[in-house]
Amino acid sequence: MRQHRIVLLPGDGIGPEITAVAKLLLDAAGEQHGFRLNFEQHPIGGVAIDASGSPLPASTLEACRASDAVLLAAIGSPRFDALPREQRPETGLLCLRAGLKLFANLRPVTILPALIDASSLKAKVIKGVDLMVVRELTGGIYFGQPKGRIEADGDERAFNTMTYSRTEVDRIAKVAFDLARDRNGKLCSVDKANVLDVSQLWRDRVDALAANYGDVELSHMYVDNAAMQLVRNPRQFDVLLTGNLFGDILSDEAAMLTGSIGMLPSASLASEGPGLFEPVHGSAPDIAGQDLANPMAMVLCAAMMLRIGLKENDAATALERSVERVLAAGFRTGDLMSEGCTQLGCAGMGEQLLQAL
Ligand code: IPM
Ligand code: MG
Repeated sequence: MRQHRIVLLPGDGIGPEITAVAKLLLDAAGEQHGFRLNFEQHPIGGVAIDASGSPLPASTLEACRASDAVLLAAIGSPRFDALPREQRPETGLLCLRAGLKLFANLRPVTILPALIDASSLKAKVIKGVDLMVVRELTGGIYFGQPKGRIEADGDERAFNTMTYSRTEVDRIAKVAFDLARDRNGKLCSVDKANVLDVSQLWRDRVDALAANYGDVELSHMYVDNAAMQLVRNPRQFDVLLTGNLFGDILSDEAAMLTGSIGMLPSASLASEGPGLFEPVHGSAPDIAGQDLANPMAMVLCAAMMLRIGLKENDAATALERSVERVLAAGFRTGDLMSEGCTQLGCAGMGEQLLQAL
């Protein structure tokens, strides 16, 4: 029997609840499709800070490195907002991305027909949207040096550096071009080249690579315009290529096109070694532990992990179908609730998903 080593990182807030649902479905999918998943669970984020003082204990990173794929739920809690940056939950996630060299973050945005009315945009605007945000994840202003806070001339100043090298742009652009080639052949690279030198290098490199992709239709868009176009006419996009910060912002915006950020999975990939699969949403501390969370993004992450990380395509499709079926049958978590539907909690939704599988 095929076996895969999975590290589960439930993390904070609603993380443990949605992880439990994903694990249930993964076990069942494995049984149906002839493979076994060997799970190991490790702390990250706030729970890791509480247990060991570090948001990413060395043992967690080592276990991830030794795995075939990592499934992370969410990190973050307002309890840690006052701590120095090295001791905040978010730093654990950033160190995990850097530690596994996960430079390519893929955030697919598709509209599920059953949820078309859950969006804050008109159905006619979002109908048929199917786009992929490709976000650079281990560079840019998130990691650039120098950074810090200094006292100067009787004032206090803080600064970060937005920096990309040719190599960094080339490798993420290549991921985006390849994806566009496999999808609808359109790539839009987002930058701020009218103002930023780092964006001009970005644009120059993307243009240079385009020579190898004659079959991909390339366009460039300034990030402010892209933010506007995403809500004006999101159907114009196929693959959106962005740096770390712009991708963070645009992917939340793109996620909301679907009606709930609680529906969106993401994959973070390295050139080699395990990928990390995590929902786009956060730890939702306001509803944690109340059985209110929407586990569907996490289940769709599990599907992405099966497909991209473990090459278990049939099981991946089965998980995706179970989400579609449950939605089509009118079951909703609170974030998606609309008239005539049946509202379920996190665990109840898990049971329905399992039945639908
Ligand atoms: C995301 C999140 C993270 C980011 C935070 C939690 C560090 O917003 O994955 O989009 O900014 O990358
Ligand atoms: Mg974000």
